[in-house]
Amino acid sequence: MQTEAENTWDNEESRSPNSNSGNTLENTEPQASSLTKIKIIGGNPLYGTIPISGAKNCALKLMCATLLTGEDMYFENSPNSLRDMRSQRELLEYLGCKVEHEGSALTINAGDIQTYTAPYDIVRKMRGSILVLGPLLSRFGEAKVSLPGGCAIGTRPVDMHINGLEEMGATVILDEGYINAKAPAGGLQGAKILFPKVSVGATENLLMAATLANGTTVLANAAKEPEIVDLGECLIKMGAKISGLGTDTIRIEGVKSLNGTHHSVIPDRIETGTYIIAAGMAGGTIQLQNARIDTLSAVLGHLSQAGIEVTQSGNDIVVSREIERLNGVDIMTEPYPGFPTDMQAQFMALLTRAEGAGMVTETIFENRFMHVPELNRMGADITVQGNSAIVRGVEQLKGAEVMATDLRASVALVLAGLVAEGETTVNRIYHLERGYEDIVGKLGGVGANIYKA
Ligand code: UD1
Repeated sequence: MQTEAENTWDNEESRSPNSNSGNTLENTEPQASSLTKIKIIGGNPLYGTIPISGAKNCALKLMCATLLTGEDMYFENSPNSLRDMRSQRELLEYLGCKVEHEGSALTINAGDIQTYTAPYDIVRKMRGSILVLGPLLSRFGEAKVSLPGGCAIGTRPVDMHINGLEEMGATVILDEGYINAKAPAGGLQGAKILFPKVSVGATENLLMAATLANGTTVLANAAKEPEIVDLGECLIKMGAKISGLGTDTIRIEGVKSLNGTHHSVIPDRIETGTYIIAAGMAGGTIQLQNARIDTLSAVLGHLSQAGIEVTQSGNDIVVSREIERLNGVDIMTEPYPGFPTDMQAQFMALLTRAEGAGMVTETIFENRFMHVPELNRMGADITVQGNSAIVRGVEQLKGAEVMATDLRASVALVLAGLVAEGETTVNRIYHLERGYEDIVGKLGGVGANIYKA
């Protein structure tokens, strides 16, 4: 496993702040802040409205799907200011795509691809870039993609991505840290692929690869996340023939070519859940604009048990705390529709001040409790035993200087800071900038005493 600073995977893990040059991007590129810390003075209740951004974990995959067609692809509600989105744009431009973005609009054209190689220097920044493998191989018959490295939240192999492509007839050779894949003459062949374990990324890579394969592909034990459904719906608009989205068996009939389309990225359910917990912990009432309650059902049950009221009102969600002190609740992370691993750290932050205890069990990633020592430094009472943590609620957290090693761990510390006595300083905010658009502006806008330093 690599050291934290060398860490290379995307999603919810850490990477070096210096790894993103961003210098190949167009002038409208949002610049990373030179401010590296967030300071929070805890104690303010939250009142007002927070706009929810498009889902990072969907937008990154939709960008890869553009490699399946030579026509223009137009996206709305795209979280373009995120670092991860910038890394993905950098990769697509390296491959030869034309990429333009303004506000939350994003246009990509992959009509003039120059290379089928996704180099280490770009892939190491973010695991989501492995998702170019299926589309490149399917449309062009070959792809060379750097293997992502180790990561802070677990070993995270890509064996299921590779095995699935081999079952579709591809020849895959791993050499010098690269996946070298070639499709058979005439292109990838439809296949029945049974995933030994539920994987979001492997389902998405194989789903995209199968759209242009010969014949029918069946993905069994597929992941059911809303982001995969959204990706599939965009592929259908592009002309793909797909059924079974949102179930554990997805069926794809390959077509000869795909067309460009318009697509609006679904709201980010993890950002939504994070702000629900913020309001539940801090108290007050907030409205989350353009948010979907239906994608958070497993979380909502636990939030309601804890004492947080959440209701849908048109396209918005209204959140309020029902009781003075929240209740301790047990959670266990599972593939969708179970409790999302990407909400585990935030829920643990909530439990730190609950009445009574709650047990948090992590079943998806083996090393995802790095926020525990930092929360304990703020006065929390958490004990880890294997893949479970017992969180005994305390009356009051105390502000402290803290540092996190991944995206969701960082935001858990921000949540704790909102209710801690005194000042909390969260270091290394580049983690947050990977997955939360303008978190300081959004929380500050509803009354939190939070600023960058
Ligand atoms: C995606 C999300 C991430 C989320 C995770 C689980 C993106 C960009 N990231 O990550 O935020 O935390 O889903 O909901 O969408 N595995 C294998 N072999 C493989 C692939 C995965 O063993 O080939 C294992 C992983 O190590 C892990 C489990 O399967 O233990 C689930 O991982 P997976 O669903 O693939 O996560 P990602 O797609 O990487």
